[in-house]
Amino acid sequence: MDFNNPQKPFNLKPQDFGKDFVFGVSTAAYQIEGAHAVHDKGASIWDQFTSKKGNTFNNQHGQVACDFYTKFEADILLMKSMNISHFRFSLAWSRILPNGTGAVSMDGVAFYNRVIDFCLECGITPWVTLYHWDLPQALQDQGGWAHRDVLSWFKNYAQVCATYFGDRIKHWIVLNEPMVFTGAGYFLGVHAPGNKGLKNFLPAVHHAMMCQAIGGRVLRAMVPKAFIGTTFSCSEITAYSESAKDVLAAKKADALLNRLFIEPLLGLGYPTEHVPVLAGLEAYIKPNDLKEAVFDFDFIGVQTYTREVVKHSYFVPYLRSKIVKASKRNVKTTLMDWEVYPRSIYNMIERFNQYQGIHKILITENGAAFPDMLFNGKVHDKERLHYLQAHIEQVHQAKKDGLNVEGYFVWTFTDNFEWAEGYRPRFGLVYTNFSTQERILKASGKWFKTFLGS
Ligand code: BGC
Repeated sequence: MDFNNPQKPFNLKPQDFGKDFVFGVSTAAYQIEGAHAVHDKGASIWDQFTSKKGNTFNNQHGQVACDFYTKFEADILLMKSMNISHFRFSLAWSRILPNGTGAVSMDGVAFYNRVIDFCLECGITPWVTLYHWDLPQALQDQGGWAHRDVLSWFKNYAQVCATYFGDRIKHWIVLNEPMVFTGAGYFLGVHAPGNKGLKNFLPAVHHAMMCQAIGGRVLRAMVPKAFIGTTFSCSEITAYSESAKDVLAAKKADALLNRLFIEPLLGLGYPTEHVPVLAGLEAYIKPNDLKEAVFDFDFIGVQTYTREVVKHSYFVPYLRSKIVKASKRNVKTTLMDWEVYPRSIYNMIERFNQYQGIHKILITENGAAFPDMLFNGKVHDKERLHYLQAHIEQVHQAKKDGLNVEGYFVWTFTDNFEWAEGYRPRFGLVYTNFSTQERILKASGKWFKTFLGS
């Protein structure tokens, strides 16, 4: 589907992407599992953050979410019936290590064993993310990502996961979008743990950077034949005008949003030249750190949903750049007020291809929230269907043009808890009735099933 030419039919098949290309769906523990306080599970920063009034839309939380904890078999069977053969989910650190370190919860391990074994029984390859934003609260109480000890806490957590699951899990992702969890959680305070300012953000950035590589090294050493990656949020950035100020503002935003975490990983250091405030990172960098932040991942997970238009602003501290909201630009948007701009995914694949040292790129998340209407037991989510088709076409074009991209995962399987936005934005291929936990396949889900089966 081409948004500029809606008459043009979508006629790709999975085979057109080559034999190594994988299609799948992505999820995250806190967004789907529920069961926030079963067995000896410890609280996470999202349990804590959502317990405070005003932090999320209508004070919603993930205590039940999609109840994946008890419904995982039905959900995985539904996946199978939709011809989905790759399922990305994350492990809740505080379900496995209730205090973040120390004693392992055998009930927590048993839950993930059941999920993993059931996926394998159904012929579905499990892809595990170690960290998708739900730090144990016990570790946040000691400073969380802003405390240097997180390097050893994370190393231990990765070792525990490799020990218990490494015999069956061969596809690993270390971190989900470090720019988002440090930026939203430790600078803007709009995500858990709700901390603000540079004194939180800069150490959190540097420690997350170190943990990317630490996690990679642990998995490489402990899991034979593992395919190991880590993911980055990124968006094409366009300057609002050709004025020198707007062009500079766009460069700064690009350095912060798209380059901050990938470049040190590849040995290129922090992009301080465009974001001078990052010089403050120096205070947290120990002598060997920049060497140890380098790791040779098997793949990089690129997660793109939109593009950003950026202009100069005197009022934004440090950066002097500001995002011009899509709703103010007269463009097609999703419910998140993100511009529908499929070319961004192509451009980001191209950008990441230009770096030396990236072996493979996988789109580990892409999708959209639209105001879905349940009508006569059906959800005719035409806009999501077109969004997915348009983005998959761009990925195909990238492959055709010789760019190195080997996978595409839809965000997400079922509608779920969308962080600070609560349950309002629905991103699923499958509609969730949050009162009854009924699942209803949307038109986009039916289409994806047919596409995968074709
Ligand atoms: C995150 C998901 C989130 C999605 C849609 C990504 O940034 O990894 O957890 O639900 O975007 O906002």
